[in-house]
Amino acid sequence: MTDIGLQYLCDLVNQQQSDTLLVADEHLDSTTLLSLKAHEQLTLLSNRYDVYIAATENNITCIFNDMDLSELNRKFDLILYRVSKEKAIVHHIINQAPAALKDHGQFILCGFKNEGIKTYISKAELYFGEKADISKGERQLKIARFNPHALGEALDDRDYKQLSQIEAPGKIEIFSKPGQFGWNKTDQGSLLLVDALKEFIHEQTEPPGNVLDLGCGYGLLSIMAWNLGAAKIIATDNNAAAIYSCRKNFQHHHIIGEVIADDCAASIHHQYDMVLCNPPFHRGFDTEKDLTEKFVRSASHHLKNSGTAFVVVNQFIPIEQIAALHFKCIEVEKQNKSFKVVRLSS
Ligand SMILES: C[S@@+](CC[C@H](N)C(=O)[O-])C[C@H]1O[C@@H](n2cnc3c(N)ncnc32)[C@H](O)[C@@H]1O
Repeated sequence: MTDIGLQYLCDLVNQQQSDTLLVADEHLDSTTLLSLKAHEQLTLLSNRYDVYIAATENNITCIFNDMDLSELNRKFDLILYRVSKEKAIVHHIINQAPAALKDHGQFILCGFKNEGIKTYISKAELYFGEKADISKGERQLKIARFNPHALGEALDDRDYKQLSQIEAPGKIEIFSKPGQFGWNKTDQGSLLLVDALKEFIHEQTEPPGNVLDLGCGYGLLSIMAWNLGAAKIIATDNNAAAIYSCRKNFQHHHIIGEVIADDCAASIHHQYDMVLCNPPFHRGFDTEKDLTEKFVRSASHHLKNSGTAFVVVNQFIPIEQIAALHFKCIEVEKQNKSFKVVRLSS
């Protein structure tokens, strides 16, 4: 289904001839984004590596970073932003907008009622020190236009740029930050995978050699595999905040290896003794099976013939069926009401 908010902003962008910045957070539909007409004065800011690569291939100037407008080193006549799912990101973008606008520049914010757009507009009005010019689009889309000048108190962005230690099992020191999947908690699916991994490693004569953490987030699985004796770990993710946090965790735990921004390890051309993966899912969208398949396929490409992959998914994902396209051996190692962990090998 088309995202009306994003489509509205893309249509506006396509009519612009001035210095324009479109801020595109990770949940936006990349197909709609790529319908943008490239022009010299358009910049796209994305925290998704796949969007950055695709936009660049379509000749759209795109910057990949963790939503840091100051890194763009320039000012815009117009900044457009479709609100994100995570409040901390929305506040972080609103806070940065004035400094990234030229004098008399305009900031356009849009979203729907159930996304909290009314509250965001009120908060931005207080911060910018002026009333927004508000209009409505299709299906009650709210569009607010601001010409920010007098700045009030910045919105609470939960210290967006700061890494902080989060609660983790076994008092392991883990750093994370807003802007990525479940940034301040440990995923129950990942913990189930770690249980399966511990049992597997205890049954082996040697610890795993080289490990690929596919869709690493802030690096929980990498840290656990390292503590279980892995020799070297390559961790990869599509999201800029995840890469930033994971690098910090590699440094903190002295993990030998590398953290690489990539789309499902597409540019990594090595094979590993072990692949660990907790793939993303979007319940309710028909892409969820495709997304799981993309990760399972990548796991099989990156696994040595003698290697083992562990993948954890929600119970409703038919992982056995999906994995059978790429692996000969598929064992459900652990499961509970919500998740199942499969061990895959060829
Ligand atoms: C369910 S989370 C798991 C995170 C982490 N492994 C953990 O256990 O906490 C899925 C991760 O996949 C990442 N991801 C989504 N699409 C991706 C892609 N195309 N390539 C690589 N990583 C991706 C997300 O950014 C997210 O960090």
